[in-house]
Amino acid sequence: MRDQRGIRINRYLAMCGLGARRAVERLVKEGRVAVDGAVVDDLAFRVPPDAAVSVGGKEVRPRRRFRYVAYNKKRGVLTTTRDPHRRRTVRDELPRQLRDLKPVGRLDGDTEGLLLLTDDGSFAHRVAHPSFGVVKKYVVVVGGRVTKKDVAALERGVELEEGHIGKVNVGSVKRSGAGSTVSVSAVYGRKRMIRQMFAVLGHKVKALRRVAVGPVKLSRLRPGEWRELTEEEVAALGVSDARDVAVVVTMDGPAGVGKSTVGKAVARRLGFSFVETGKLYRALALKALREEIPLDDGPRLAGAFERTEVRYALTDGEPLVALDGEDVTAELAGGDVADAASAISALPAVREVLLPLQRRLAKPPGVVVEGRDIGTVVFPDAAYKFYLDASPGERARRRAGDFAAMGKAVAAEEVEKDLAARDGRDVARDAAPLRRAEDAVYVDTTAMAFEEVVDFIVECVERGEAARTAG
Ligand code: DC
Repeated sequence: MRDQRGIRINRYLAMCGLGARRAVERLVKEGRVAVDGAVVDDLAFRVPPDAAVSVGGKEVRPRRRFRYVAYNKKRGVLTTTRDPHRRRTVRDELPRQLRDLKPVGRLDGDTEGLLLLTDDGSFAHRVAHPSFGVVKKYVVVVGGRVTKKDVAALERGVELEEGHIGKVNVGSVKRSGAGSTVSVSAVYGRKRMIRQMFAVLGHKVKALRRVAVGPVKLSRLRPGEWRELTEEEVAALGVSDARDVAVVVTMDGPAGVGKSTVGKAVARRLGFSFVETGKLYRALALKALREEIPLDDGPRLAGAFERTEVRYALTDGEPLVALDGEDVTAELAGGDVADAASAISALPAVREVLLPLQRRLAKPPGVVVEGRDIGTVVFPDAAYKFYLDASPGERARRRAGDFAAMGKAVAAEEVEKDLAARDGRDVARDAAPLRRAEDAVYVDTTAMAFEEVVDFIVECVERGEAARTAG
């Protein structure tokens, strides 16, 4: 079967930087190119979205040109791209051509200085996340004389609220009149950490400026000015091999909580792809219904599923699910399919079949994966885990709203009953039941607006705040 969408194989290889279209045709003719494991020697072949392409056994991927910018944020401007109180944000300050770029990490409103901006999600993660060890340098102007004892405390660690410890390296201290100017560096800055540390030591921070992020220096950029990073700077920040690693964001939670809508919006904001794993369960359920396999016959179901090719691809951000090459996306929304999915998802053999498929969908720069056991079983090592929750009544209201939008009038009580039944099955089953991963951030969305939930999650990821455990 030939996929009419997708990109012609020679163009695809050229986009991977393997040479001009003509030059790469030879690779195809010589039979060195494989798509999803099968050799392709036909030049008319189109590479479907999300296919894995390899040349001589090595996987190749199209290159994309990303932008990397150093920007001197003014004091009083917020890093967040949207502010409910309509205060000035970085986005308001930036020229139009930079508005699609996202800040890497964040600077507090009253902190000025170097903020990197990019549309390369993997790069942003690497720079913001403490595990990659990128050192950030700050110049702090404080009241009072910073003594040797203060310096020792700053370097040893200062106890902050809620048992957190703030620790920095101190570069230099200059004392003048009633104040001191201190240069400090740190790999990780908890929110307002530097300010709090000096406050604990009895020094009020009068000005805080970030002057370097790794090898990138603020130098002569004046507040509000920006410049592109040099290739050397980008390369120096990208020395880790994380470029080929997908950043995984997991989003688990009960039915009707809004994981799909939230996940899709979060993925779009982060420049990641988005996977609804429930659709995979639904696709296999559809297969079982069509072949009239009893929904509790684990071995028969698993056997049938092993012989089935399930594909999950994104086209223009919308998922497309194919069963043995047939697009079944439209059929997955039905209530009978949802019920069958719920039933078969309790069977370990079924979950087993879907495990490798789900893991393969994690492609760089990153992916938001939504489901029930994603943070616990499918991606236990994910960098960012969220558990979305809401009261049953609120979830029923949201679901009923979805139905209404589709032109179907369903009473909220009906929906609530249906959700309760599904919750019961999802939670009670032995195989990978719905439960919150210990290291997942718990988000009770009952009283939160949709935009608030999205903002909260995006900001956690952009700030590299992965391991924040609530509760
Ligand atoms: O999210 P959804 O309603 O499309 O999911 C359909 C069913 O599949 C649901 O009853 C729970 C199950 N499921 C699961 O067990 N594990 C997942 N990761 C995703 C869905």
